[in-house]
Amino acid sequence: MTVHNPAMKTDALLSQFLDVARSFMNLEDPDALLEGILLAMRRVTVADAGSIYVVEEHGQEKRIRFKAAQNDSVSVSLGEFVIPVDDHSIVGSAVLNGSAINIPDLYDPGSFWHGRHNRRVDRELGYQTRSVLTFPLTSRLGEVIGVVQLINKKRDTSVRLDAEHLFDSMVLPFDREEVKIVEALGGLAGILLENTNLYSELQQLFLGLTRTVVAAVDSRDPVTAGHSDRVATLSVALARAVHETREGSYGKLTFTEDDLKALHVAALLHDIGKLGVPESILTKETRLPHSVYLRLMERLNTIEYYLRYAVEDAEAQVSLLHEFRETVQRINVPVPLRPEDLRILDEVRGKTYLTPQGEEHQWLTDDEFEYLSVPRGNLTSKEREVMNSHVTVSFDILGNVPWNRHMSHVPQWVVNHHEKLDGSGYPAGNTDIPLMSRILAVADIYDALRATDRPYKKPLSLEKTREILESEASAGKLDPEIVRLMFDNQVYCALEY
Ligand SMILES: [Fe+2]
Ligand SMILES: [Fe+2]
Repeated sequence: MTVHNPAMKTDALLSQFLDVARSFMNLEDPDALLEGILLAMRRVTVADAGSIYVVEEHGQEKRIRFKAAQNDSVSVSLGEFVIPVDDHSIVGSAVLNGSAINIPDLYDPGSFWHGRHNRRVDRELGYQTRSVLTFPLTSRLGEVIGVVQLINKKRDTSVRLDAEHLFDSMVLPFDREEVKIVEALGGLAGILLENTNLYSELQQLFLGLTRTVVAAVDSRDPVTAGHSDRVATLSVALARAVHETREGSYGKLTFTEDDLKALHVAALLHDIGKLGVPESILTKETRLPHSVYLRLMERLNTIEYYLRYAVEDAEAQVSLLHEFRETVQRINVPVPLRPEDLRILDEVRGKTYLTPQGEEHQWLTDDEFEYLSVPRGNLTSKEREVMNSHVTVSFDILGNVPWNRHMSHVPQWVVNHHEKLDGSGYPAGNTDIPLMSRILAVADIYDALRATDRPYKKPLSLEKTREILESEASAGKLDPEIVRLMFDNQVYCALEY
């Protein structure tokens, strides 16, 4: 920097800092912000090296966590560590006093620093920590929330301090003006850090609340507990695979971290609408609801009793009744119906019996017939409709959330998670399905096949699951590229079953 007029120098320093600071305004990642603050402070003061710390509350106690170091002359890589808030360290003193400590030369600190500098690290690095400016980052309320330590102000930015003599000739003390500027900027950086911390705390809180709601939804059906969490993990892993692949139709497509965060939230919440599905349908495992099954069995016993003791020549009817009872017991679990099952249901449907009081009743009521004649699965079309309504209920619930810019697509992605590319899905029969919904769909079906463990429905093997997903893809229902990535890139390894 070749500016000599102090006022101009201050202007230049300030505008340089603000340029960098402005670029941090959108940072949502506290670690990236800390690195950015340190870099900005070093640029402003032409400091060769520096490190940055945050102050943590640990119960009643405060402590200082080292977060990052930067050095233009030698490479340093230090993991995080913690030091106490006391006056044994320069950083600790800066926190205690809440003001800058400017040591012109740590190798000869004089009255500027009473402590001893341990030169072991310097020796190991082939470096010398000479001029040191340490100052606090303060919150809005003036609390110290971080510390920046700048090391070795250089005469010239381009110099690398990689020879012993250079530390004497090229390192300058930080001047008073710089102390004032960095102290002032420490306040600005502190507020940025405070905002970022707050933002990330809010995000954690939001995610925590989301998880709690989702766990509540999933726990209504113990068989699918953990489903939403697994779909979220798998969806994000699939999206990363789409982002990373250089082949196929998504070879050029990339996602930002914000896209992935939004997908994670959408996947966590995709079945939130199941809150609106009655438990009797949500957890139904048989064709007949349990109470209806018991009622029917009891009636069949009564009919048999009447036939045996009150009706003459009833052998044929009794054997039909036995055949019917055996059929009901077998098809009550959701096996696919055979033509002979339907034949016997039809035959029994019209039959009636007379009670001793002379009342005429049906063997099989219309409702029971409807339940039992479901060709596949265990839900009648009315029940299926209620079950499928979870998608639109999800959309309605999520549509009321004031999403931020990055998350604004969440309701759209969720409402499309049961749509199929050939238009055979629900709720709208869409064929133009957002990519994130296609990812969600593959992850959702994968988990449903692999994780379901109902008494009548065992989880499928990886091979069988692959077969089903691939046939759905070649039938034009699922996105073939996503199914391919799932298995070719072993994305499913993100989950353990
Ligand atoms: Fe769903
Ligand atoms: Fe689901």
